[in-house]
Amino acid sequence: MTESSVALIVLAAGQGSRMQSDLPKVLHRLGGVPLVGHALAAGRTLDPAQVVVVAGHGAPAVTKAVARLDPDARVVLQPEQLGTGHAVAQALPLLEGFDGRVIVLYGDTPFIAAETLAALAAHPADVVVLGFEAADPGRYGRLVVKGDSLDRIVEYKDADEATRRIALCNSGVMAADAGLLRDLVGRLGNDNAAGEYYLTDVVALARADGRSAAVVTCDESETLGINTRAELAAAEAAFQARARQAAMDDGVTLADPATVWFAQDTVIGRDAVVGQNVVFGPGVTVESGAEILPFCHLEGCHVSAGATVGPFARLRPGAELGGDVHVGNFVEIKNSVLAEGVKVGHLTYLGDATVGERTNIGAGTVTCNYDGVGKHRTDIGADAFIGSDTMLVAPVRVGARAMTGSGSVITADVPDNALALGRARQVTKPGLAARLMQALRVAKGKQ
Ligand code: UD1
Ligand code: CA
Repeated sequence: MTESSVALIVLAAGQGSRMQSDLPKVLHRLGGVPLVGHALAAGRTLDPAQVVVVAGHGAPAVTKAVARLDPDARVVLQPEQLGTGHAVAQALPLLEGFDGRVIVLYGDTPFIAAETLAALAAHPADVVVLGFEAADPGRYGRLVVKGDSLDRIVEYKDADEATRRIALCNSGVMAADAGLLRDLVGRLGNDNAAGEYYLTDVVALARADGRSAAVVTCDESETLGINTRAELAAAEAAFQARARQAAMDDGVTLADPATVWFAQDTVIGRDAVVGQNVVFGPGVTVESGAEILPFCHLEGCHVSAGATVGPFARLRPGAELGGDVHVGNFVEIKNSVLAEGVKVGHLTYLGDATVGERTNIGAGTVTCNYDGVGKHRTDIGADAFIGSDTMLVAPVRVGARAMTGSGSVITADVPDNALALGRARQVTKPGLAARLMQALRVAKGKQ
């Protein structure tokens, strides 16, 4: 066993009935990412050798989400929720042969800090429990400490008055060596007020065997669990407050911090400027010095240094903006790569496209990428000029330094240096407008 050998078990089988939801609790989003994604990300900071998620309610959906969030994690089914100890017992067989440290986390507790987990993982006691001093201990399990040692954990339902007065509470996060945990969990009973297999009982079992048990404490804010929609909203507010502060600490200008919304994985470089009312969905990176003007929505995209986006722009997954790109108002970009210096100023949709360096995309241009069945690509070369209101019917290619006339419907490839016009030739009838208007007035009896 090496010291860094850690495995994670993430408990996520509970229904979360107080959410009043058909969606499993751990799939409700915080910072744009399912709750379980926060637990997985926190656990990942320990560089675990293995990760097992215990799913129950909504297991198929949880399994799918976990595969997306953390492809190396495995999911085990707990068909009936018989308690936290029973949940861990379902996960342990997947860790067969693993003899390092096991850390148990909850999928609905998103704020545990990396440093806290590191302290827990490094503590030498046989069983280590993460505790906190609760302002209102409520229904948390109480940590009964004797001297330097954790003696046992008593669940609220099973606690007498004196024990309920203890303010040191169980967060649910626990660490123990795999072999010991297997032994202890195998001996758990369910003779208690809830009739459940309590993971918390491993502490008393370990102590009875003469093993050591200890508490590592953290701030209560880290152990905040989510049980209701109101708690989810409060957690979102707390998450956003931290994300805004962290961005500013990193040198990002936020014109009005309270109106900027971040995702769990948003990365913004120093000296980037973010205007009012900007929403970052998951998967966004913005390089140093880029500017996001007010009222933009970004998701799954990359904005390079010197680029300006918005106001009122939408960057969807796969939008890659090169250096100094300008994307203006009412522009939507999806799954498209814009090379350095491209300008897309107004009222445009670019989907499944590549655009070469310095090309100008005129107002109202649309890549018609969908034919009702499949998606098709549009490739535009460097230094091209796409006239306003061009419809680019994909699959289609416009060469380098080529131009399209305003209002063109481009259905065939345009070679380098060519001008393509795909519109009806203009017809002009001198005086006809005035004569037509007069005839209409007469018909309506106005003259
Ligand atoms: C648990 C602890 C309690 C602690 C509290 C902190 C036990 C017995 N009690 O109580 O000491 O103060 O958390 O919030 O451990 N889960 C499963 N399968 C199950 C039961 C639970 O996966 O069969 C998962 C839930 O989805 C949840 C977590 O384990 O993520 C905790 O379960 P929950 O029922 O909320 O435990 P509490 O009663 O709050
Ligand atoms: Ca709970």
